[in-house]
Amino acid sequence: MSSPVIELDDVTKVYPLPAGDVVALNGISLIIDEGEFVAIMGPSGSGKSTLLNQIGCLDRPTSGNLFLDGKNIREMDDRELTDLRLSSIGYIFQKFNLIPLLSAYENVEYPYIMKHRKNDDTGRVRDLLALVGIDENLSTHKPNELSGGQQQRIAIARALVNDPAILLCDEPTGNLDSQTGAQIMEALSELHKKGRTIVMVTHESEIAAYAERTIVIRDGRVA
Ligand SMILES: Nc1ncnc2c1ncn2[C@@H]1O[C@H](COP(=O)(O)OP(=O)(O)O)[C@@H](O)[C@H]1O
Ligand SMILES: [Mg+2]
Repeated sequence: MSSPVIELDDVTKVYPLPAGDVVALNGISLIIDEGEFVAIMGPSGSGKSTLLNQIGCLDRPTSGNLFLDGKNIREMDDRELTDLRLSSIGYIFQKFNLIPLLSAYENVEYPYIMKHRKNDDTGRVRDLLALVGIDENLSTHKPNELSGGQQQRIAIARALVNDPAILLCDEPTGNLDSQTGAQIMEALSELHKKGRTIVMVTHESEIAAYAERTIVIRDGRVA
């Protein structure tokens, strides 16, 4: 039997703005089981990234509850949340969020150092860069010396460096040509086969087809 690893219970997210409140999530309830590969689809502005941010504990819901591994994140302090994020969750951001002053290699190594308090002497960073097709020469480049597709691949390697149980991907192939995109999707499918739980936001149905299940979001609600 599979068990719920992500559970949202009537989650709302409201952004208070001077012009009025923006209700980005409007009562989302859903359950994702351990080892599932789920796609989240919906039009632009429907709340997909906001939803992923809640699941990734980058933000806290305005109301409602989020359970990760059965634990209510409202009952966790900042340290517990940081540990959870570092050890259990890999996040691939829509806009990469690479650190500009660090090389490609150092960007991938960064969460490893945060978790292990030492440099990677296992070859893992190098192997992950190879997996996403970044050669040794490119790995010394800074993000602004790399194409969007290359930055995306580095962001993916970085998300995998601490071997997270849950992988959250926001439009993971959005900046890639279709061949590189297919390679990335094959890599995600491989990780899914090895037991990772994957939640992937996409607006492309060919990309969503790699997932086992699709959840459609419209106006901050499950459609
Ligand atoms: N930080 C923010 N401050 C104010 N409004 C926001 C913020 N982030 C997102 N929104 C608004 O919330 C809604 C959902 O946005 P988002 O989750 O980014 O949608 P999607 O990823 O589906 O395109 C949109 O109306 C967007 O303008
Ligand atoms: Mg988005």
